[in-house]
Amino acid sequence: MKQVVDWLNWYRDMGVEMIATKGLVYEEINFCHFDERSEEKSSLEIQELKISRYARNDNTEIYSQTLTAVREELGDCQRCKLCATRTNIVFGSGNEKATLMFVGEGPGADEDLQGLPFVGKAGELLTKMISAMGLSREDVYIANIVKCRPPNNRPPEEDEIAPCLPFLKKQIEAIAPKIICALGTFAAQTLLSTKTRIADLRGKFYDFRCNDTCDAIKVMPTFHPAYLLRNPSEKKKAWEDLKKIMKEINPS
Ligand code: URA
Repeated sequence: MKQVVDWLNWYRDMGVEMIATKGLVYEEINFCHFDERSEEKSSLEIQELKISRYARNDNTEIYSQTLTAVREELGDCQRCKLCATRTNIVFGSGNEKATLMFVGEGPGADEDLQGLPFVGKAGELLTKMISAMGLSREDVYIANIVKCRPPNNRPPEEDEIAPCLPFLKKQIEAIAPKIICALGTFAAQTLLSTKTRIADLRGKFYDFRCNDTCDAIKVMPTFHPAYLLRNPSEKKKAWEDLKKIMKEINPS
């Protein structure tokens, strides 16, 4: 029940007043029933809150082997100066056949220690954003522009991005997601090769190609969860962006 309450609180913060239930009919929710201090009051059935998940018909074996091969090729990477200060390489985690992939900037202190992406405070918010979409972290794939922590969480530098980006592109090729959600200025600007501000980029789909022969993948830039923690009033805009992604994945 705690998870459901967290989920509903996240919806409320986002300004959501309607929720998809069976058959994608939108029903109104009375959020006053979902106060963490009064869990017994809630009467909505858990199954009514589920938004349908997305299925793909990929060849599991091929995709997982490819992603494993990318990890092997990366090895104990010494291709840039971040290797001297990192604890762990943060390769990425999640579903190797994910329809939806999230790309952040680079690991922070918690991620560096655990070797996993988005496991700190911003990661907690990202997890809530994913569950508000009716998905779990196991349904999506999460990675970063750079795989090693920049000291003091400074933005990654050109000579760090250049050797790392080809590995992210290979991961994207292996996973072949339908949509990439670029989290924050840095991820959006890097994937889209632009200097446009995130506030102007967000909310629209753009085409991204891993190479000249690849099919285009749609990229939706949105605000970084760390920015949303500092600017909670922007959560509504992020939720608008996530709803566009949900609609694109599951149009019915
Ligand atoms: N911020 C990011 O951009 N990536 C992480 O993995 C964690 C925090």
